[in-house]
Amino acid sequence: MTTTMSGPTTVECAHLDWRDDLDDTLVCADVADVTHDVRSFVLRPAQPAAYRFQPGQHLTLTVEMDGQPVSRCYSIASSPWRPDELTITVKRVPGGLVSNWLHDHLRPGDPVTVAGPLGRFSTAHHPAEKYLFLSAGSGITPLMSMLRTIHGVCEPVDVVFVHHARTPADIIFRDELRVIEAEHPSIRVVVVCEDDAEHERWTGPRGRVTLPMLLGVAPDLVGREVFTCGPAPYMEAVRGLLSQAGASPDRCHEESFDLATGIAPVARSTGPTYTVELRRSGRTVECDESTTLLAATAQAGLSLPSSCQEGMCGTCKTTLVSGRVEMNHAGGIRPREIAQHKILLCCSTPREDLVLDA
Ligand code: FES
Repeated sequence: MTTTMSGPTTVECAHLDWRDDLDDTLVCADVADVTHDVRSFVLRPAQPAAYRFQPGQHLTLTVEMDGQPVSRCYSIASSPWRPDELTITVKRVPGGLVSNWLHDHLRPGDPVTVAGPLGRFSTAHHPAEKYLFLSAGSGITPLMSMLRTIHGVCEPVDVVFVHHARTPADIIFRDELRVIEAEHPSIRVVVVCEDDAEHERWTGPRGRVTLPMLLGVAPDLVGREVFTCGPAPYMEAVRGLLSQAGASPDRCHEESFDLATGIAPVARSTGPTYTVELRRSGRTVECDESTTLLAATAQAGLSLPSSCQEGMCGTCKTTLVSGRVEMNHAGGIRPREIAQHKILLCCSTPREDLVLDA
């Protein structure tokens, strides 16, 4: 069987059952240390199957903690050239509930609940001849999936990849980045560290991201399709620098899982207010047209499943039984699910009285 995927790539895979989604329980097949606080987890289907996904997309993992399901998004770091297994690369972070749980508990042979693939942060959605990839810390993972994909087929595109790490000991995929750069004629990787590691002095470029540094490695920056991923302060800095350089916002794409905690409080609104009937909860709440359904239900004391609150992870997905909403999602729901009247509560506001299957 020959299957064509998004972008100029073709995969031959004669015997596998191809699937477009993996809302399923996968099995952890391998765990490998990448740095002192970063680990890769290889996930495979219980029965042989191949998954279609685009490089840069993410998965939502749900684990049970104290009897409660907790969900978080993780980018797929592997490339679609390995459709029978998906790798997520996770950094242990202070207070990182699911990340730390994965480090402490997920071992080969263990099942894990996964939904996805989700998201539009992908070169497959924005094909170009020249790219600028910018990442910091574990923000490297979706860009690594894109880089591995381009390298895997020696795609004839020009990539400048600037990655920021705290110290040389924190450089994720350090050896592989070197190999990819050496093997692909038009991929250039620049790693920048803020400081030395305890046992290694960094001899490469240092410091935080600045416009002179970006223009130094990519003088044609405004002509490139830009993908950025990292912690919120880094993203904000890069956003300002790209704007200062005159890069078109339409060509600058970003993703960050450095998300707010707690559901945003409801702001006072003077617009129309609608009733929202929650069939399964047996409750009816009021919600105005500028308040998300998730915020309105939280304010009414209801605890509905949610995670990212940015329309990315799909955790708050529910069925709209009747009524009309405005939904501004960020790839956390598929077109066919929208056609089946599914909505994301965290990024939907009412335009009529509603009935929800929630
Ligand atoms: S909470 Fe993540 S999509 Fe709504």
